[in-house]
Amino acid sequence: MSITEATLQSWASEYEGKSPQQILKLALESFDNIAISFSGAEDVVLIDMALKTRLPFRVFTLDTGRLPPETYLFLDKVRTHYGIKLEVCFPEPEAVTAMVNEKGLFSFYQDNHDECCGIRKVAPLRKKLSTLDAWITGQRKDQSPNTRNAVAIAQADRNFSRPNEILAKFNPLANWSSDEVWAYIRAFEVPYNELHEKGFVSIGCEPCTRAVLPNQHEREGRWWWEEATKKECGLHISNIEK
Ligand code: ADX
Ligand code: SF4
Repeated sequence: MSITEATLQSWASEYEGKSPQQILKLALESFDNIAISFSGAEDVVLIDMALKTRLPFRVFTLDTGRLPPETYLFLDKVRTHYGIKLEVCFPEPEAVTAMVNEKGLFSFYQDNHDECCGIRKVAPLRKKLSTLDAWITGQRKDQSPNTRNAVAIAQADRNFSRPNEILAKFNPLANWSSDEVWAYIRAFEVPYNELHEKGFVSIGCEPCTRAVLPNQHEREGRWWWEEATKKECGLHISNIEK
């Protein structure tokens, strides 16, 4: 289905107060060629809810090659638990090879994370999104006060739309808190990453993620050596390009 920005904006206002399940149903009924972008706890909640609609959808994940071992186990646990096909996207080996051979395996600690995330996450995401009409993410407003407090329920993806063809982006959990996500996980026995039992909250690549202390914001465990205002890796860069 081809979509206009005006329709997405009107859905965003109409569905702002509705439940994630209602938003997901709208997304899945409106698009056949749609996928959930999966890496963390929120995304499994979305997979669980989406399966309950009995509508078709796909699920993909970006394997950067630097994920923690617990995350690989978790990805496969979700795949088998729900009996879903998980489409795994990998970075271009030539680009990774050139970067690592020139700058080593930890260049992000010196240069910042832009180049590495660009090669390992954003380019594979762009390739995957070029095959889709819409995608669904687990972004929440309270995940990152500096960059996500205005995340819309539905939006035109300004960063990944193709020329003359809008890519729709849905964030059904935008208005949910972390507490609501975890209440759902416990209520429906949704599988989660075992790193959550060791103080990790927001989980990305192994060298760029660390556990947080009680009452520390979850985003402080990501790219902790960089300024808080820059903590977007490029998957959701439109959050900071306003
Ligand atoms: S990130 O941009 O900082 O890495 P974050 O970890 O908060 O993102 O996750 C927000 C949403 O982005 C997730 O709910 C998921 O939809 C998507 N996402 C993040 N990392 C990945 C990944 N490796 N593969 C697929 N989707 C991802
Ligand atoms: Fe590279 Fe870190 Fe970004 Fe992962 S999060 S792609 S290791 S910079």
